[in-house]
Amino acid sequence: MKDGLEGVIACQTKISRIELVNGKAVLEYRGYDIRDLARRASYEEVAYLLIYGELPKKYELQDFKIELAERRDLPPQIIGLLTHLPPYTHPMVVLRTATSYLGSLDRKIDVKTREENLEKAKNLIAKFPTIIAYYQRIRTGRNIIQPTLELSHAANFLYMLNGEMPSRTAEKALDMDLILHAEHELNASTFAARIAASTLADMYACVVAATGTLMGPLHGGAAQEVMKMLREIATPRRAEGYVRKKIEKGERIMGFGHRVYRGVMDPRAELLRRLAKKLAAEGSTKWFEISEEIAKAAYKHKKLLPNVDFYSASIYANLGIPDDLFVNIFAMGRISGWLAHIIEQYENNRLIRPRAEYVGEKEKKFIPISER
Ligand code: ACO
Repeated sequence: MKDGLEGVIACQTKISRIELVNGKAVLEYRGYDIRDLARRASYEEVAYLLIYGELPKKYELQDFKIELAERRDLPPQIIGLLTHLPPYTHPMVVLRTATSYLGSLDRKIDVKTREENLEKAKNLIAKFPTIIAYYQRIRTGRNIIQPTLELSHAANFLYMLNGEMPSRTAEKALDMDLILHAEHELNASTFAARIAASTLADMYACVVAATGTLMGPLHGGAAQEVMKMLREIATPRRAEGYVRKKIEKGERIMGFGHRVYRGVMDPRAELLRRLAKKLAAEGSTKWFEISEEIAKAAYKHKKLLPNVDFYSASIYANLGIPDDLFVNIFAMGRISGWLAHIIEQYENNRLIRPRAEYVGEKEKKFIPISER
């Protein structure tokens, strides 16, 4: 057995496919290449695809967008919670706490019909951005900005966060970023969600498990660490020395390496790099230029390739998103993938309960406490 369940197939899924084809990594959601989805679909369209299983027709997408927009508001109890949490609470802790609270407000928490699962899913997808934006406004002592029905999922989030209409470029950039983060097979947080779902725990519990797991710096938490590194390096010419020293000391470079994409480029990183470059050209090039130098040095000194978290950092910084909200943006995208997996697990369930190989001491003689 390899540590970390490397290479183990733990379940079957129809949600996404990661495969090496002619030396290149392919990533598809429900059979559609992410390059097509990122360029030609909206986040709402992709969320529909993931949770319903098919791309929506025009009228279905219109209805879905309205359904999401109408669910954006938060119950007063959740706003009360956001107001009472200490302002130093990490926004991911806030997100998982608010998700759990949403569960306590749902009288149908244990109902798991397909219709009710989709209902809960739409509610969670719609409310995640509001929880994040409201908390950011509250902890910085500003008034909350209520969601608007007119804007897209991405634009409405930026509007609630910053209090002004985002530019078309900013909207498109966030929309594409959310699409690229929406789903990735059996990554750690999705696996956590599926394990919880396999016990038939309620959907909120499954999403809480996933949200808690995503936060770690080896998973979604890496983007915040990337930003820390970009700030430490501060100027492109210092990147090479910084990376070399880290590698010499045996330390990890955040935003590089991936369990599944070994020696091949993460297709999401490729697309995000282009997006980061475009955003930089229209705003500040600083973070992108440092990122490029880090990527060159990481490849030169250890053949390391960037993962999805690497270029996300400079994208978020250029969108004016604070560093400790980076993981939350990831969660805002990934929620639809989690929900699709939770529903898939519910609909074809068997308890996930693997075994462990025991490597401790055996058959020891019990010594009474007075003699120890
Ligand atoms: N920096 C330096 N070396 C690295 C890195 C890195 N970021 N990633 C892998 N390596 C090296 C390891 O040191 C090891 O080298 P060695 O064989 O010389 O000892 C080799 O690559 C294999 O590494 P593993 O630890 O076996 O890789 P694993 O699959 O267990 O870990 C992980 C994957 C956790 C993503 C790892 O690459 C890492 O820590 N990256 C940094 C954190 C990060 O960016 N996480 C986000 C991942 S993407 C996501 O979750 C959204």
